[in-house]
Amino acid sequence: MCSSCVPQLTDIEQDFILTLTDRYPRPVFSPQGPSLRELCVQALSSVQRGYDLLAPKFDHTPFRTPDGVLDETVRVLSEVGPFGSGLDVCCGTGAGLMVLRRLCHDGITGVDFSAGMLARARSAYPDATLVRADARALPFTGDFDLAVTLGALGHFLPTERPGLFEGVHRALRPGGILALPLGAPPPLTSVAHWAMLGFDLTMLVRNTIVRPPFVMYYCTMSLPAVRRDLTEAGFAVEEIALTALGRHRDGGPRYWLLLARKPIDRD
Ligand SMILES: C[S@@+](CC[C@H](N)C(=O)[O-])C[C@H]1O[C@@H](n2cnc3c(N)ncnc32)[C@H](O)[C@@H]1O
Repeated sequence: MCSSCVPQLTDIEQDFILTLTDRYPRPVFSPQGPSLRELCVQALSSVQRGYDLLAPKFDHTPFRTPDGVLDETVRVLSEVGPFGSGLDVCCGTGAGLMVLRRLCHDGITGVDFSAGMLARARSAYPDATLVRADARALPFTGDFDLAVTLGALGHFLPTERPGLFEGVHRALRPGGILALPLGAPPPLTSVAHWAMLGFDLTMLVRNTIVRPPFVMYYCTMSLPAVRRDLTEAGFAVEEIALTALGRHRDGGPRYWLLLARKPIDRD
């Protein structure tokens, strides 16, 4: 076919496809993944129960952090490390454990409140210590040199983030780092922006009328808000644009990596 015969995509169509393939390189529905009915049942459960149900099929969904994000996180952190012990907060089936395994030489730990997700992580990472706990009340003090949290921030209300970050701060040794990849919001004129807003509004309505709530919001975790909460928890925060993972149509990076360092006490 001659190039002039190839149908040209509009900017909006290109942006939509780019956003979906960058943010979610796997399709929502596949032969190994959950059915629409299963996803609906999960979304009508609590977060914990929803992930228990999704666990056997989670690695075949787009919700597991994509390999590109994991690789870029390892690339940046390998220039900062090496590290001793590592903690994956909200580890799920273990995407962050894969990052920690490549960077930490003194053992890796994953924490999650879903027993189903932890069971999958246990079979994939038999060398890891796995702890069932709520990340809003992390049961660690000064045990880790590196913490990561991937793909889970949307499950915390903005009012819960300070408690989450204070717990991670407490879990780290002085000088320790929390690494947090964050999708940058798409431009206001993009289809992706309106799709995310529509998703959040749907969840808001769902959580107003159905108990228990399923907390998952995209628009609450802007870079300035997350940076402020990290700073208030006591971290010194650095932002790194992961430009290898692409740019939005307005030129901004699609992903940031926040490196939040717990200061070393000097008294
Ligand atoms: C989208 S999955 C991400 C899993 C993994 N980090 C990844 O990137 O593929 C979110 C995970 O966060 C966990 N989670 C959500 N809220 C939590 C909480 N308050 N305490 C512990 N785990 C939580 C869920 O059980 C689930 O395993």
